[in-house]
Amino acid sequence: MHTLRIQHLAGYGLEVPDLQVGEDFYTAYGLRSQRQGDTVQLHSQQSGPAAIVLMPGAQKRLHHLSFAVQAQDLERFAEHLKALGTPTTTPAFAQVREGLWFQDPWGTWINLVAVPSKAAAPASTTESPPKGVTGLPRTDRHLWRELPRQIRPNRLGHMLMYTPDWEKAEAYYCQALGFRVSDRAAGKVAFLSGGEGVRDHHCFGLINGTHRGFQHGSFHVDTIDDIGFGALQMHQAGFKEGFGPGRHALASNLFYYVRDPWGSWIEYYADMDKISEDWQAKDWNELPYIWPAWAPEFWTKEMNANFEPR
Ligand SMILES: [Fe+2]
Repeated sequence: MHTLRIQHLAGYGLEVPDLQVGEDFYTAYGLRSQRQGDTVQLHSQQSGPAAIVLMPGAQKRLHHLSFAVQAQDLERFAEHLKALGTPTTTPAFAQVREGLWFQDPWGTWINLVAVPSKAAAPASTTESPPKGVTGLPRTDRHLWRELPRQIRPNRLGHMLMYTPDWEKAEAYYCQALGFRVSDRAAGKVAFLSGGEGVRDHHCFGLINGTHRGFQHGSFHVDTIDDIGFGALQMHQAGFKEGFGPGRHALASNLFYYVRDPWGSWIEYYADMDKISEDWQAKDWNELPYIWPAWAPEFWTKEMNANFEPR
């Protein structure tokens, strides 16, 4: 029988004090919005469940995580989670996503949603090779007039969550959900991959913190130009606080971060490392980026503060 693993990050939920503020921010970012009851469902270009669900709350707060699993694994996951002492249950808000629900040992709600086995492989293994340039013909043309300027992210790639009990949380997520550690920023961040074979370097990550919280979510775009135009699009919409563009160290992806209305971040990314079954995880003591030179300090509150209530 195959190893039980989540396939990739399907989405996450945030409580926010003003749904309209959240809807305006994420639609400016390039997501499609749909009101459903008292929630806002936000979709990338990829079909399937909402990447982000906004729900009303007193303060911005991570509400839940959602991971994609192969449909035939759902029942096995239910048995496995029960054996670990974190059984599946039905919360009052279960209608916000289809699938199974359970809580990790620290109280975070997690949803497991079935994806058709065709779609179980992360889109990253099937999309065209990452490219830093456009691939458009370059002779006797005005490239600057041809580039797509309205950015609509392809798919949710990853999100990072603060957690207490960092080592224990890493062990739990690997055991419960079949994640594998792809790299660590030593003592600070564990990057986790889902699925098998060639896959994204990470679809989820745990940041060593005092309490649970949302740090950033990140959506895939095709090129460095899409990242640049995404940054411009947000700037023109009034969301001017950002960091980048740049290239990360661990995972090597190109990035631009925009500060969200509640102090956390959303990222556009492209060209992330893919890893295979041969990959060896390591602990690193590097800055999180290799350029630009004028980056803020990631590991202090300038970039990396948890503004959520305990
Ligand atoms: Fe990221």
